[in-house]
Amino acid sequence: MAKAVELGGVDLSLGRGASRVHILKGVTLHIDRGESVGLVGPSGSGKSTLLMVLGGLERADSGTVRLLDQDFAKLDEDGLARFRGRHIGVVFQSFHLIPTMTALENVAVPLELAGVPGAFSLAEAELAAVGLKERVTHYPSELSGGEQQRVALARALAPRPDVLIADEPTGNLDEATGRQIADLLFAKTAERGATLVLVTHDPSLAQRCARTIRMRSGRIETSEPVSA
Ligand SMILES: Nc1ncnc2c1ncn2[C@@H]1O[C@H](COP(=O)(O)OP(=O)(O)OP(=O)(O)O)[C@@H](O)[C@H]1O
Ligand SMILES: [Mg+2]
Repeated sequence: MAKAVELGGVDLSLGRGASRVHILKGVTLHIDRGESVGLVGPSGSGKSTLLMVLGGLERADSGTVRLLDQDFAKLDEDGLARFRGRHIGVVFQSFHLIPTMTALENVAVPLELAGVPGAFSLAEAELAAVGLKERVTHYPSELSGGEQQRVALARALAPRPDVLIADEPTGNLDEATGRQIADLLFAKTAERGATLVLVTHDPSLAQRCARTIRMRSGRIETSEPVSA
């Protein structure tokens, strides 16, 4: 079966002129379907940038990026956007909810735009699955941080993505709330056989992944299975 993620010799620089930075330097990385990977490393080492590349949000300057056997270089912008919508879910540290939409609309509207039938009932079920049945008509400003991150998680999971990428999803939450979000993240991805790529500064969270990958200065330093 195709791997979930295959990166080969990926290089990427971002920024213009004097502020241009060579961020990713020959990154090669394979992730199996259903695997959970914790991506760790110092601030500025390129973790978020690597997530952007494998989420199809930034294109590599060189090297190959393949998800579920699809070579991103063979897709135009529309094709890449469609592929993202169908196969990749994203959760950020700062939730990224739309403030003028209720919890339900935040989850349902992207599904509707993607032409998914029954978007609202599906969204309701996804919110119930993360324990927010009683909060569907709340706006983000009327929800706690942990609840907002649950909405973001429901939104990311609703299209049933094959790969979920999460960039410090518990970074803005207190320890107990962060643990609840992490529990949901691992439970839901495992339940659906989805691949999880998780960036975190929290060693105990990284330890919950099947494998940790350590980055340093734009390179993969080590990639090792987590011992139980
Ligand atoms: N659009 C951009 N233009 C120029 N430089 C950038 C851009 N995006 C990121 N960088 C630089 O690339 C480096 C890697 O950034 P990145 O956000 O991937 O790091 P990170 O490992 O996620 O760090 P953190 O743990 O602090 O989130 C940083 O030095 C950053 O300043
Ligand atoms: Mg980052």
